Amino acid sequence: MHFKIDKEKCIHCGQCIKDCIANIIEFDDEKIPYITNENHCLKCQHCLAICPTGALSIMNKKPEDSEDTENLPSEESVLKLIKSRRSIRQYRAENLPKEVIEKLTNMLKYPPTGCNFHKLHFSIIDDIEVMDKFREMTNSKIKKILSSNTFNTIGKKFANYKDAFMRGDDIIFRNAPHMIVVSAPINAPCGSEDAIINLSYFELYAKSMNVGTLWCGFAEICLKVFPDLCEFLEIPDGYKPMYVMLFGPTDIKYPRCTQPEEYQISYIKDKDIKISNLKKIKRYFWNFIR
Ligand SMILES: Cc1cc2nc3c(=O)[nH]c(=O)nc-3n(C[C@H](O)[C@H](O)[C@H](O)COP(=O)(O)O)c2cc1C
Repeated sequence: MHFKIDKEKCIHCGQCIKDCIANIIEFDDEKIPYITNENHCLKCQHCLAICPTGALSIMNKKPEDSEDTENLPSEESVLKLIKSRRSIRQYRAENLPKEVIEKLTNMLKYPPTGCNFHKLHFSIIDDIEVMDKFREMTNSKIKKILSSNTFNTIGKKFANYKDAFMRGDDIIFRNAPHMIVVSAPINAPCGSEDAIINLSYFELYAKSMNVGTLWCGFAEICLKVFPDLCEFLEIPDGYKPMYVMLFGPTDIKYPRCTQPEEYQISYIKDKDIKISNLKKIKRYFWNFIR
């Protein structure tokens, strides 16, 4: 792990020891921290991040190369960003500037993953011509299915989309010039959660640069149903596509936020609970059905 302590800088505060999720850092006889079992390290770098004097380096990462954590945006500006994000379905038919795509791509490694599992795969279409090819490939496959009888039995729910699709509207990709697909190894501990978290951060960061985004459940279904699309997107063997987001430049402006419905919220008070076996079975059913 290349776990190194600068003895001149270490103030023996034990913060790295307290904050280690794997519990594998201890003081030696000189009260200098060392790792007891490298195999259990999660590589989260909390020890490097928390050290108040920058005395600790790990995995060849030097503390002086880490960005500081000062000057964060205010709570008002973060909330405003969350409130004003919208699903964008109108895009300009052009590529985003390369440097914007680069910024978006560089952000991807920061969102959290279950067990600090950093093996996601991202397929990014950064060129509208490639996107048009992908759009055409997908839409022609869907057209075939929509024209067959199978769809009539399974797809009544999507009847209104079908008509628009057959008229030539880009119902799936909304004419977006770019797309990002997150895939995870089939044995990833929290693959689908990791993907959704990642794209949630992507969406907000994109919004901060006035880049439009759209969660695309339809495209996700297409990827699962048409394996050659996964090949086109260079999704590695043993990986499963988890979610899709469309993105691109947009002229659309929403001058106001929406006023979403309230959720049910329970503020929990202390109480004693006794539940019947029937209720237990129901709970198991609700908890595990999907
Ligand atoms: C998981 C998920 C999947 C979605 N899939 C699609 C989709 O395939 N096509 C689409 O037009 N919108 C899709 N949406 C967008 C929702 O329909 C959208 O959030 C809703 O219309 C509310 O609008 P807002 O996001 O601007 O608040 C999806 C949203 C989420 C969160």
